[in-house]
Amino acid sequence: MKKILLRGGSVVSSKGIRRADVLVSGEKIVAVGRHIGGDAKEIDVTGKLLFPGFIDAHTHFDLEVSDTVTADDFDSGTKSAVAGGVTTVVDFATQNKGETLSDALNNWHMKAFANSTCDYAFHMAISDWHDGIRDELPAMFEQGVTSFKVYMTYPAMILSDLEIFEILSALKPLGGIVGCHCENAGIIDALRARYTESGALGVQSHPLSRPAYAEAEAVSRFLRIARAVDVPVIIVHLSSAEGLDEVLRARERGVRVYAETCPQYLLLDDSVYSEPFDTSSRFVCSPPIREHEDRKALWKGLSAGTIDTVSTDHCSFTLEQKRAGSDDFKRVPNGMPGVETRAILLYTYGVKKRRISVPQMCAYLSENPARLYGMYPKKGCIRVGADADIVVFDPKGESTLSARNMHSKCGYTPYEGVRTTGRIERVFLRGQTVYAGGEIVLEHSGRYVSRGRSDL
Ligand code: URP
Ligand code: ZN
Ligand code: ZN
Repeated sequence: MKKILLRGGSVVSSKGIRRADVLVSGEKIVAVGRHIGGDAKEIDVTGKLLFPGFIDAHTHFDLEVSDTVTADDFDSGTKSAVAGGVTTVVDFATQNKGETLSDALNNWHMKAFANSTCDYAFHMAISDWHDGIRDELPAMFEQGVTSFKVYMTYPAMILSDLEIFEILSALKPLGGIVGCHCENAGIIDALRARYTESGALGVQSHPLSRPAYAEAEAVSRFLRIARAVDVPVIIVHLSSAEGLDEVLRARERGVRVYAETCPQYLLLDDSVYSEPFDTSSRFVCSPPIREHEDRKALWKGLSAGTIDTVSTDHCSFTLEQKRAGSDDFKRVPNGMPGVETRAILLYTYGVKKRRISVPQMCAYLSENPARLYGMYPKKGCIRVGADADIVVFDPKGESTLSARNMHSKCGYTPYEGVRTTGRIERVFLRGQTVYAGGEIVLEHSGRYVSRGRSDL
């Protein structure tokens, strides 16, 4: 079995950082400690941080939506991921109305199989709920799908409160965890109609028609449904101070709720929507980018540990695709890229600005998503027996972000020209180097990760 010894680095976990060498044999970590010897090929990682491979638990690759399909499929999306230090993505297999869950899962396996440069798992987004779907849930668990998403908005995806109650109840004995897209559909529909009638069809109407209070109302309602059923749940892509307040209040009432946010809600503010269409449309996503005060509240949540994960909601479209909405904000496909820039941005704006520590960064990007989504300790940690998914991170590296050097097919990054600190120098996926020196060096070796139940 091929052995590699990473010598001289500092191993990061959610508990701290310690100087330790890491011995890899084949696909696994077989020793972590000082003075490890033997016949392994040595790689000098002196001065580098060794993170467990990052997990992005919120991507949409090869998703048909808004009469188009996302710019990134599993080929380009997972290359973009490994360049961002991500060794596992959890993508949303999405059930279209009228389909079975099994149809949706097979569909996503076909999209990902032999095309993925990192490992991959699937959540299941449920859009059509009836007894036949309920009967399929045990089979999902047998096939390693243990987390689900429900939507409180979007005509193609929306479920009623009763349906959400029934889904949570059906998953409770199986031990699954449900994430929710929380926005109040009625408020959004009414405001979209109001802006349309008044002729305000520019991108500025996108955030105005999806206000933070519409998110907060839906968070509050979803968490009351979760309370009624008494199951743990997660709020995905949490974007606002008001929404976070609802999470904190629900926790005080005893609801087991986890929260995920994304870099766009931590780093950008709604001034992006005042730019001309070809710029502002890049930032059209749902929930929309919020105000400065929301950003501050979300950073505070990360500092205090009241937010549990940072994912990306990578859902990319080219500028040409975005132009479908050049005369009506409602037709701009929603979503933006992010899987390649998440870690470096969190290091630059989180760790270097002393809002979070390096161990917290590890918790948000690796350990917590692994635990929450049933992959720990195979993924999410550097310890004996874990998959040898390792990010060699140079804390002193510096660069300027540019889409020119990135792997997404959407052709832009929301962070063009941003100066960053820290560099992803090399990425190991199950013991093999997949990314080094700014290049993908091994493609399409990603495998499906069949997941267990949540561990948090
Ligand atoms: O605008 C976004 N975020 N599109 C992706 C779908 C979703 O709601 O997560
Ligand atoms: Zn969503
Ligand atoms: Zn999403």
